[in-house]
Amino acid sequence: MKSSKTDHNADGELHHLFVDQLRDILWAEKELVKALPKMAKAANDSKLSEAFTSHLSETKVHVTRLEKIFKDVGLTARAKKCPAMEGLLKEADELAEDYKDSSALDAALITAAQKVEHYEIGTYGTLRAFARRLGYTDAADLLDKTLKEEGKADDKLTSIATSGVNEMANA
Ligand SMILES: [Fe+2]
Repeated sequence: MKSSKTDHNADGELHHLFVDQLRDILWAEKELVKALPKMAKAANDSKLSEAFTSHLSETKVHVTRLEKIFKDVGLTARAKKCPAMEGLLKEADELAEDYKDSSALDAALITAAQKVEHYEIGTYGTLRAFARRLGYTDAADLLDKTLKEEGKADDKLTSIATSGVNEMANA
């Protein structure tokens, strides 16, 4: 840790944090590429299964965008284990297992997936703000695109939940 606030450049530290969080979300997105096919397979509702599959395609694009951002700021794309995403995906696995024979399985999968989306929304919103502050305009635009897609994915899950899946779980 730095002992003094006067011995370093504030933007240098923000750049450091920006890169650190890019590495965190790169790890998270790559893990999601592995997890989403399992969630698509587990889902009973065809709309939910399709939503997971289409978000898998988006997630692969999110990885590519992150790799482009690393390149733009002159760095090698290197992932750093994200303990939060590891925990969220562990919870998703546990829910899928606990509810595999239940009418609430799809509701449980949506629960897990929305927690993941909200984690990502938090990270991308922060990264976009950092990129703007640091003057990384192209990176900010790419992060904005991903942030909007995460928001839409979350909205889609809400609509699937409230247009039948929750009712089914409660039947
Ligand atoms: Fe994503």
